[in-house]
Amino acid sequence: LRYPIVQAPTNGPAGPELATAIADAGALGAIPLTWTAPDAALALVQQVRAATKGTFFANFVLAVDPPFDPRSFDNALEAGTPVVQFSWGIPSAEHVRKVRAAHAKFGVQVTSAGSARAALDAGADYLVCQGIEAGGHVQATRPLMEQLVEVLDEVRRVRAGVPVLASGGISTGRDIRRAMARGAAGAVLGTRFVATLESRAHPEYKRALLAANGHDTVYTTCLSKGWPNAPHRILRNPTFTMWEAAGCPPAGRRPGETDVVARDGDTSFERYRTRAPLASMTGAVMEMGTYAGMGVGSVRDLPAAGDLVRRLWREFQQGKA
Ligand SMILES: Cc1cc2nc3c(=O)[nH]c(=O)nc-3n(C[C@H](O)[C@H](O)[C@H](O)COP(=O)(O)O)c2cc1C
Repeated sequence: LRYPIVQAPTNGPAGPELATAIADAGALGAIPLTWTAPDAALALVQQVRAATKGTFFANFVLAVDPPFDPRSFDNALEAGTPVVQFSWGIPSAEHVRKVRAAHAKFGVQVTSAGSARAALDAGADYLVCQGIEAGGHVQATRPLMEQLVEVLDEVRRVRAGVPVLASGGISTGRDIRRAMARGAAGAVLGTRFVATLESRAHPEYKRALLAANGHDTVYTTCLSKGWPNAPHRILRNPTFTMWEAAGCPPAGRRPGETDVVARDGDTSFERYRTRAPLASMTGAVMEMGTYAGMGVGSVRDLPAAGDLVRRLWREFQQGKA
């Protein structure tokens, strides 16, 4: 890597074009594959590998229900992903054996000393410390800086030298500098890369990100169809405000639960589904999963992802953290 900058896996907006642009620029690209069919997983990894000399990882969320297709995982390795990044859990011995057999490396997203220790015991090559400021599904329960100090202490005790990346609410070079000044080896940015030219996010969603501030986000369990009981951070939207006005009722008693709010080709999406609005969708897309982190207030333009990586680095060098 030329820069200690990592693309967060953002399921939906992060297609192969975005991973390629980021990897080409010398940062670490991401291919989220948790909800990707085996053939498509194989094709995506092959496509990005062929398109860039840069580096990227394939991401799998472990605690999701229903679980990811193990054939997608096998195919990602077979297609030659150099790195796998797990979140929401600790990979099994079988996962680790397969990663090693493919001569790949792996990282694990953690949120505490306990999960850091479990990831290190499993043999993780690097850790991602996600804070509660993060957009999308939030594994964290506390602010990034509080958890980062704890995770770094645990790494020093258990296996000093393992890199720890900071994630959640990071949108500028100055934010990256602040996290690295605390001991992070680099930073993972999700929302910032959703607002780029190459991202597959719907134009309305991108525009909303540019207009929003951190206090427009909400940490909630509102959108649970497809991944129940997993907290997430979104921009307040009509689905959330309607549910909140009804007293935040549980699944089965939520207002408008069977409304079809958007479509993508032949697929229709009901309200409360855990899907981000994509350019390929039509309908009331802003009533879908308008995922955004608390750093959204610093997202004010739609650059090409490679230009953004270089700008983040310039800001990093100029910043006074
Ligand atoms: C639209 C969107 C989709 C996401 N999808 C995933 C995913 O598939 N897997 C995962 O581990 N994290 C996912 N996340 C969380 C990110 O990996 C990361 O933790 C978060 O974006 C960091 O916070 P930030 O958005 O403030 O930079 C997603 C986040 C967003 C915004």
